[in-house]
Amino acid sequence: MQSINRRQWLKAAGLATGAVTLWNNNLYGLNNIKPYYDEGDVLFPYSDQNTIRLSANENPYGPSSYVREKMVSAFDRACRYPFSEVPELTRRIAEKEGVSPEHVLITVGSTEGLKITALAYLQKGGELVSPDPTFEAMPNYAEACGAFVHRVPVNDELGIDLEAIEKRCTNDTKMVFICNPNNPTGTIIPADEMTHFCTRMAQRTTVFSDEAYFDYIDIKNYPSMINLVKNDLNVIVARTFSKVYGLAGLRIGYLVARPDIIKRLEKFQVDNPNMLALAAAHAAMDEKKFYEFSLQKNIEAKSMINNTLDSFGLRHTRSQTNFVFFKTGMDISVFSGKMMQHKIRVGRAFKPLTDWCRISTGTTEEMESVVTALKQSFLNPSSVKSTH
Ligand SMILES: Cc1ncc(COP(=O)(O)O)c(C=O)c1O
Repeated sequence: MQSINRRQWLKAAGLATGAVTLWNNNLYGLNNIKPYYDEGDVLFPYSDQNTIRLSANENPYGPSSYVREKMVSAFDRACRYPFSEVPELTRRIAEKEGVSPEHVLITVGSTEGLKITALAYLQKGGELVSPDPTFEAMPNYAEACGAFVHRVPVNDELGIDLEAIEKRCTNDTKMVFICNPNNPTGTIIPADEMTHFCTRMAQRTTVFSDEAYFDYIDIKNYPSMINLVKNDLNVIVARTFSKVYGLAGLRIGYLVARPDIIKRLEKFQVDNPNMLALAAAHAAMDEKKFYEFSLQKNIEAKSMINNTLDSFGLRHTRSQTNFVFFKTGMDISVFSGKMMQHKIRVGRAFKPLTDWCRISTGTTEEMESVVTALKQSFLNPSSVKSTH
């Protein structure tokens, strides 16, 4: 082992020991933090090939054959620690985003980025302001850390209400969380409004911009909040390889923020992503073809769902993501029961919008089953009984 690697290993071991000590002392809310996943997805494991899983906004086409090849080659290095591979991917991501490597932190999925941010910023006494409904990981982690969470309802169009969010910020607000495009609503904040809001709020607090679905945005030149990081603002941006790159199972994502913020956050990481995930992320960034293919397939799948919903006059948002959010007019427990009769698993309930459904895009074949299932559900709504 080279001396640099030994040092890094000792650092990682020290951090892990530190984390265990914090855990034992019930500090940092670690005792309350639960892994983030939809419990329903655990009940329907992916190995159940009979179920069409449209509940977790995954990309069914990934990983591409090129990425698979690169992962297979990476097996030769799987007996090695990944320390030396992390800086190279960090450099690659920094180059892509137009920042320095010191602005980038590779994380185990963007979920780890959300978790370590809550641990670093949202201890007892702090406040988080968040839209509602939204991707719940950050509000949940914040509460587990003992912070108070202001949940600000989305507006009548199910868009994030920036004005109301700003009004809820106080001197105790440690962070504003914005998921844009938002999960589960699929809506996006107009570009100028988002930039102005984040610029203003970053003078008062830290802004966390969750951009998990950024690649799916179909508005030309829509700005990433990484632009504000480049201007040294108090903004943290999360990105992931789980969506358009189709690598959700490999758990790799990253944060972009000012170097002082990255330094503060990295202390809370316990370990590095694994060798295969690093190789896959590298390869995925090399390959434009699969990226474009995924985007195109997603557009086609969304229009198949939207056209069917439109033919029944069902309300849906104009989703800028890889899922559709629509009003079923019945409780989600009843509607998901109907879809399960076609072996289709849709998203969970998103309170208070419990008569809406979030359905992820799947393969063309899967979408054909969805169209059939939707037609049967809405042509004759009373014909199928709820399984709940
Ligand atoms: C808005 C948002 N952020 C983050 C994540 C977590 O993604 P990952 O941890 O796979 O990067 C998801 C997953 O669905 C999401 O919807």
